[in-house]
Amino acid sequence: MGLKPQALRAAVRDWFAKWIYKYYERNLFNQVRRGKVPYHVGLILDGNRRWAKEMGMDINSGHQYGFEKLKEVLKWCWELKIDTVTVYALSTENLSRSPEEVKELFRLMEKGFREILETKEISENEVKVRVIGRLDLLSDSLRTSILQAVDKTKNYKKSKFNVAIAYGGRAEIIDATKKIADSVVHGKLGIDEITESTFAKYLYTEGERDPDLIIRTSGEERLSGFLLWQSAYSEFYFVDVYWPEMRRIDFLRALRTYQQRQRRYGI
Ligand code: FPP
Ligand code: MG
Repeated sequence: MGLKPQALRAAVRDWFAKWIYKYYERNLFNQVRRGKVPYHVGLILDGNRRWAKEMGMDINSGHQYGFEKLKEVLKWCWELKIDTVTVYALSTENLSRSPEEVKELFRLMEKGFREILETKEISENEVKVRVIGRLDLLSDSLRTSILQAVDKTKNYKKSKFNVAIAYGGRAEIIDATKKIADSVVHGKLGIDEITESTFAKYLYTEGERDPDLIIRTSGEERLSGFLLWQSAYSEFYFVDVYWPEMRRIDFLRALRTYQQRQRRYGI
């Protein structure tokens, strides 16, 4: 039995819309791949709970979908050979959310770090995992899973995946300042040796290049303490979509906009 003309028209329209979308996505990908891809991309994942609410789901499902989206976005980054990705997964302020939500976030992250030990993408892409933040504020089991993932990947050299957890940019600067003061007091560092490059060595991100591009989802246009020192010359891209609904074309458009900007570093 054949389709009714109306249903047939709808099916053709649907097929054509999907084809156009794929065609556009592929062109965008090729365009971005031909340009200068950022070395270090920072991602501020935002909007999990608003997305869940709009979809009629509970907030934990929003975080679950957000976690799945992160895995997808990482694959897009590796496909484009982006060297370093740093994600803002949990701020120190986020720890003041309800105990139930924090527990669920810890559970999800623990699952994520355990997956890192097993997934072939991590070993195939030689992804070195690093975690920045105040790990003492996390649960023992989450900390253990983090240390195992960091240890397993410590010799990988092709790309880096940094996760900011229980992280705050001001706290990071204060921690660095304390370490510098300690070095000065113990005669290991002279006051005149405190330069921008020395200071950077005392940050959690020691040895990393500063982010070239920072993307934040959900329409909020602020850093919320993310890599405050390191983002001095980063390009920012704010996109309205909530994190769990970020599409590959949203990501590619962010990169294309980055490529169209001229970075002058104040010169
Ligand atoms: C922001 O949305 C999202 C978070 C605070 C949590 C993000 C964490 C994950 C997706 C898990 C990541 C896992 C690993 C292993 C790195 P929101 O809760 O602020 O939502 P809202 O802005 O709509 O309130
Ligand atoms: Mg938020």
